[in-house]
Amino acid sequence: MSAVLVHSISDLRGRLEPFRRDGRIIGLVPTMGALHAGHGRLIERAREECGTVVVSVFVNPIQFNQALDFERYPRTLEADLKFCSDRGVDFVFAPPESEMYPCPQLAFVEVEKVTEHLCGAKRPGHFRGVTTVVTKLFNIVQPHRAYFGEKDAQQLATIQRMVADLNMPIEIVPVPTVREPDGLALSSRNTHLNEEERRVAPALYRSLQAARELIASGILDPGEVRRGALELLAKYPQIQVEYFEIVDAGTMQPVERITGPVRVAVAAWLGSTRLIDNIWCEYGRKD
Ligand code: PAJ
Repeated sequence: MSAVLVHSISDLRGRLEPFRRDGRIIGLVPTMGALHAGHGRLIERAREECGTVVVSVFVNPIQFNQALDFERYPRTLEADLKFCSDRGVDFVFAPPESEMYPCPQLAFVEVEKVTEHLCGAKRPGHFRGVTTVVTKLFNIVQPHRAYFGEKDAQQLATIQRMVADLNMPIEIVPVPTVREPDGLALSSRNTHLNEEERRVAPALYRSLQAARELIASGILDPGEVRRGALELLAKYPQIQVEYFEIVDAGTMQPVERITGPVRVAVAAWLGSTRLIDNIWCEYGRKD
């Protein structure tokens, strides 16, 4: 069965209404399109757990802080529609910009603290753009569940906090990162890498694994873990590290000592492409 492509908010609301009345669980997978197996995992999970599945495809201008990044973001709606149809999605919601932002947006949703470090520090206004568009999508679709990837751990933590603090009646379902066989996390931006950049890119994941091993072996000083992992990345002059941080898994604040579950997160430039990745770690043994 083909997924139904919907462009307008009122059309989508009208089409969802009978399913809602029937008591079907509505699942939403928000995306910016250029769908790959990472998005696929979110969609499959939604398909397993929900009666009606909506995938939104919208390249959200207000979360891009670089015009070039917005312009060159891949737009592949036809392929995305087929991708969704093959996975049993009911509705693909792909609104034009004029539908989502008919006049300049004056209302914004902001989550403090969780957005302070990592990508929040490097991409001013990015998370405000994400939380605002996700709130709009939540209000449009009114899903029971929404699916987000751990690949964007700070985004996931921010959405979880937004839903909790603003009493949004939506269950946020985290989905583990999908990787290439060599460890590189799938991302729409990987298509921008040249051959050489693609070859060295898996070093990012290896640096995260090295950090995890150091932590598991009992090193509790984040500075020491960071130094060890950065040493590995220093072997690749093509990789310019933007940040490499060890943060509390819930608040995304850097920790002074590793005493609980942490996320190790990295952002790096390979040429003109910015990649991010992260890994969840248990704190070290004390023996
Ligand atoms: P986008 O980058 O298209 O990602 C959509 C969802 O897919 C996000 O929840 C992201 O974490 C997840 N995802 C991407 N790559 C993944 C991978 N390799 N493994 C698992 N999940 C992966 O994130 C956004 O869009 C936007 O910010 C959005 C939330 C749609 C708001 O505009």
